[in-house]
This record gives sequence, structure tokens and C-alpha cells, in this order.
Amino acid sequence: MKTTVLAVIGCGRIARNAHLPAFSRMKDIRVKWACDIIPEKAEKLKEDFPFIENTETDYHKVLSDKEVEAVYVLTPNYAHYTITMDALKAGKHVFCEKPITVNYDLSCAMAKEAEARKKMLNIGVCNRYNRSIELLKQYAEEGRFGQLYHVYCSFRSFRSIPGLGGAFTTKSQSGGGVLIDWGVHFFDLILYILGNAKLKNVTCDAYSETAKNMQDYKYYGMWAEDTKDIENGTNDVEDFITGYIRTDRASISFNGAWAQNVDRQEMYIDFLGDKGGARLDYGGKFTFWDAKTLERIEPDYEITDMYQNESVGFIRSIRTMEKDRNNIENVLQTAKLLDVLYQSSREHKEILVES
Ligand SMILES: NC(=O)c1ccc[n+]([C@@H]2O[C@H](COP(=O)([O-])OP(=O)(O)OC[C@H]3O[C@@H](n4cnc5c(N)ncnc54)[C@H](O)[C@@H]3O)[C@@H](O)[C@H]2O)c1
Repeated sequence: MKTTVLAVIGCGRIARNAHLPAFSRMKDIRVKWACDIIPEKAEKLKEDFPFIENTETDYHKVLSDKEVEAVYVLTPNYAHYTITMDALKAGKHVFCEKPITVNYDLSCAMAKEAEARKKMLNIGVCNRYNRSIELLKQYAEEGRFGQLYHVYCSFRSFRSIPGLGGAFTTKSQSGGGVLIDWGVHFFDLILYILGNAKLKNVTCDAYSETAKNMQDYKYYGMWAEDTKDIENGTNDVEDFITGYIRTDRASISFNGAWAQNVDRQEMYIDFLGDKGGARLDYGGKFTFWDAKTLERIEPDYEITDMYQNESVGFIRSIRTMEKDRNNIENVLQTAKLLDVLYQSSREHKEILVES
């Protein structure tokens, strides 16, 4: 059996909770390096996942290891671009977490570099490997929705601003707030199911109201709390976003909130077609309604680990040199959509999307 040698750069939450557990079930890989600028994080990860062979603080040293074929870039958004470009230039295949990076232009530069170097560059839009999304895509392709005319999505929570004042809420480091952090998953899977619909125009409003004075933000718990800096940090990103998107297929309306003063967690997507409709409970299963029979269908299927599935796809694509569904080329449309939504909210007007 061929073994692919990997390195992990960034040993935080997504490494610990998603990728390393997935690697522990994959027999055809070796994880030669775990790298983090904070040495204790890499060491703790190695302690908890003893199959990791070495730790390092300088990712350049990891990239100079000729045995390493592919690297996982699992750092905060602002570091995706530089590390990915350096890794491609060092001749490595790259799996980079979502969002690609902080804007569309840099995302295109990453895609161009991967193409020039003939390396695979996949993005962690893990939902494309979620069984629910695969089935919904199949339903759409089989015509079970008929004409899919509208998609509504909600990614709203009561109190979920991550690491207030830290990298997540500092635009120069994250690229934005709830839209780029959560919305990226929702829009990516919607565009995937719609089959790369062509964007026509968008309108969007973004708000930052619940923590405009960080000291006054009340919360029970805060995820990514280790990165917060309420005293001296920055919060210049949106915590609520709403908008409307026209494509050459369905239109899309949405509301997203990292925080809002309504204590409801509403994470779902409604797909409306003339022959049928579906509600996807985000991260879970979906229900389908057939317009002819009024039957409510709850398909029976197993949800397997999408993080493992996306890594299996990535390793396969390295070996076959065939681009996978998560290849950056298939995700650029999502990056473009985020860019024009932010542009619309900044300029307070509808934006025509150039093809
Ligand atoms: N696919 C998903 O469902 C999903 C879920 C959560 C996070 N993410 C993405 O994963 C990325 C990481 O998020 P996280 O929550 O794990 O963040 P985190 O802050 O918990 O971990 C990031 C780690 O990267 C390290 N780091 C920063 N710069 C580095 C560098 N130059 N070299 C080596 N290490 C460096 C930090 O010290 C930190 O330990 C983000 O881009 C986020 O959007 C994806």
C-alpha cells in the first residue's frame, strides 16, 4: 500500500477536533510533522495523537523536508495565503482550511500558483463531503425538485462571536465576520448543489451591533476564547448579515448572525422547487416534501465523517492527479460571492457580478 507523508501546520481547534481524529483512522498516511508557532500546542497535539512523528515551530523547516508530499494549512485565515504559496513553491500539495483566504484576488493567485506548479490545492469546504449534501445534489440532478427557484438560508445564533477582539474579529486577519466564517460553508454547499450557478447580482447589508463596545458584550460562553482580547483588541467585522443573490438558476436569500438579541439557534437551508422542496438541518439530515403526493420523506442514511471523507478525496487526488470536488478551482466561485456581498454592504448598493 502506498503511504503519503503529510505535515500539519497549525495545531489549534480544527486540527485537534477534526483532522487528527480523521488521520487516526486512515491507514495510508504518515503525519511526519505537527507545526505551530506556539511549541506547546504542537507538543500537546503529538502527546494526544502519538502517531505524529515530530514537532516544529518554523513551517519553513517542515517545507524543506523532501519526504513531505502534502501539507495541511490549518492556521487562522490571515496565514493561509503565505503558507500555502510557500508550500506550493516548495513543491508540496496543499490542503488549506476554509475560507481560501481573506479575499477573492488572493484566492485566484493561490489557484494560479497551484496550476503553475502542477500541485493539488484543496480547500476545507468539508460539507461537499457530507452525505446529506451529496444526496441533495443527487436529488437536484435527478430533477426531484423540478425547477429549483429559490434557496433560503439561516445561519443565526444568539451569542457566538468567537475570540472577541482577536484574529476572528479583526478584518485584516480574518477577512470578515459571520459571512466569511459561517456563511462560506452555507454558500459553498448551495452553489455546489445548484451546480456552479452563474452569479448575476447581489445586495447585502452587514451590521456590527452586539459588541460594538466589546466591554459591554454579554455572553455565557465564548468559543475560541483563548484568542480573545477584549481590552486591547479589535472588532471591525460584521456579527449580522442579510442579503439577496440572483444567479442564472435559483435566487438565494439569507440571514446570518454570530450574535443577535433573539435566543434562537437557527441553522438550516430551504431548497424550494416546483416539484419538491427540502429543509436541510445544517450539520444533520434533511426532509424532502414531494409536491404531487404531499409526502414527507426522511431518507435513511448514515452520516460518515466529512473531514475524513475530504482527506480521503485529497489523498486520492494527489495520487491520481485528478482534481477533486474540493479543488480550489471549484471553490473560487464561493470566494467571489463573499467578495461581492462585502462590496455591496460597504457601498450600500446592488452589485452586478462580472463573469
Ligand atoms: N472546516 C471547518 O468546519 C472549520 C471549522 C473551524 C475552523 N476552520 C478554519 O480552520 C482554520 C483554523 O481555525 P482554528 O479554529 O483551528 O484556529 P485556532 O486559533 O484554534 O488554531 C490555529 C493555530 O494556528 C497556529 N498558527 C498561526 N500562525 C501560524 C504559523 N505561521 N505557523 C504555524 N502555526 C501557526 C496558531 O498558533 C494556532 O494554534 C481557520 O481558517 C478556520 O476558518 C474550519
